[in-house]
This record gives sequence, C-alpha cells and structure tokens, in this order.
Amino acid sequence: MSGSTIIPWVVGNWKMNPMQANSQQLIQDLKQQLKQNPISEQQCRIGIAPISIALLSVQQQLLDASCEILSVAQDLSRIAGTGAYTGEVSAELLKDSHIDYVLIGHSERREIFGDNVNVIQEKVKNALNAEMKIIYCVGESLEQREAGQAEQVVLQQICDIAALVKAEQWNNIIVAYEPIWAIGTGKTASPEDAQTMHAKIREGLSQITPLGAEIAILYGGSVKPENAAELAACADINGALVGGASLNAESFYQIAQAFAKSK
Ligand code: 13P
Repeated sequence: MSGSTIIPWVVGNWKMNPMQANSQQLIQDLKQQLKQNPISEQQCRIGIAPISIALLSVQQQLLDASCEILSVAQDLSRIAGTGAYTGEVSAELLKDSHIDYVLIGHSERREIFGDNVNVIQEKVKNALNAEMKIIYCVGESLEQREAGQAEQVVLQQICDIAALVKAEQWNNIIVAYEPIWAIGTGKTASPEDAQTMHAKIREGLSQITPLGAEIAILYGGSVKPENAAELAACADINGALVGGASLNAESFYQIAQAFAKSK
C-alpha cells in the first residue's frame, strides 16, 4: 500500500488501433472481465481512448459496463468552437458528445505531428475553457535522459502549461509521465526511476498549486501485467497510461486490477 489518497487511474490509449470488429470484441471482453471480478470506482478509475471515429460507439458500448469506463479523446483541435476547419474536432464538439477527457501533449503528437509548445498551450486552453479534463503527457527522450536533462525537460513541460491553468482548474488535470524511450519498446523505467521522476513532478506541481498533492500522476511506457504491481506500489505513481497492453482485454484488466489492489 502506498498510503496515497488519490484514486488511481488506468487509461488505455489505443493509438491508431484497432479495426472495428476487434474494438467491439475488446470492449466486450473487458466488460466480461469486469463483471466476473469487479473493480469499483473507489479502487480505480478506468478510461479508454479509442480512435476519434470510434469514440461515440465505444462510449455507447460502455454504457452497460459494471463500472463506469470513461471514453477519452486522444486529441483535440487547437481551434475552439465550430467553423470552417476541415478535419478538426474542437473541445466544444467533444463536450457536446459527452466526451469529458482528452490526452494532450503525447510524445507521438509532439514528435510526429508538430504539436509544439504553442499548439499544446492552445489545446490546453481550449480544453479547460470547455470544462474538459486533461491527461497532460510529459516525458524525456533517451538523449535527454543520457545527457542528465530528464528532470529539467519534464518540469519545463509542466511549466509550459502552468500559467494557463487557473487555481481551481488543477482539479481538471491529470499528469502522465511517459519517458519516450520506454514507449512501445518493451523497456519500462524501473519503479525506482519512475518514482523518482514522479516525486519530482509532484514537488513541481506543489510549488505551482496547493492541489499538487492531489493530482494523479500516471506512468506510461511499456506497462504490462508483469510490471504493473511494482509500479503501482510506488508512492507517487497513481495509475498508468497503457498503450500496447490495452489492446488485450485481459492484460488491460490485470493492470487495472494491480492498481486497484495496491492503493
Ligand atoms: P506502450 O504501453 O505501448 O509503451 O505505450 C505507452 C503510451 O504511449 C501510452 O500513451
């Protein structure tokens, strides 16, 4: 037991996966797992971030799950409202479809799709203005870690959004620490290294907001059933943002179970 009062979060980031039939099966299997061995919302909050066109059908399919499973958007537009912006989905449109949570700042968006600090700040502003809750991703590259800059990089990423978040809005922020070198590589940060970074993030957040001690800080990067319990046992690891392993209902369920049991 970590002694933390923060309810853990386990969120599956499906990224650009899977095909429709597999998605339906995956949800079906997950609901089945949860029915057989329930996890209460007090033990662990569960979310799924499917591809954007599947958000509403996944949300619909989750309605009769034995515990609430939240549908999370993987991204949103840097433009607010509605208008002539081909291909975009704004915070307001997500909210209008009862999607309350969104990932912002994932390293894949930062690295592949040019989500620089300005874009990320616009997205954060839009999400907060629309009263969405944000899972804000931070994390250093291998080069940055090897150069001893990991902490500085991650804390800067927190500072990048600090001025945009009003005092009470920190309630709407979850942080996900995802070291880039651990994403999809099978290499997980050791529980010690992850905890060290999470403690630094907690310290940084606490300097910015009195709510710092209450903000969930999730770990992401090759989280699997085999390493979930050790990660979950760390004081400042309040959940997981799971990529690959969330595409298997049993693995994802076991990770949620590990966090549910540990707190
Ligand atoms: P993996 O779990 O596949 O390493 O992905 C982590 C991640 O990027 C979640 O957002």
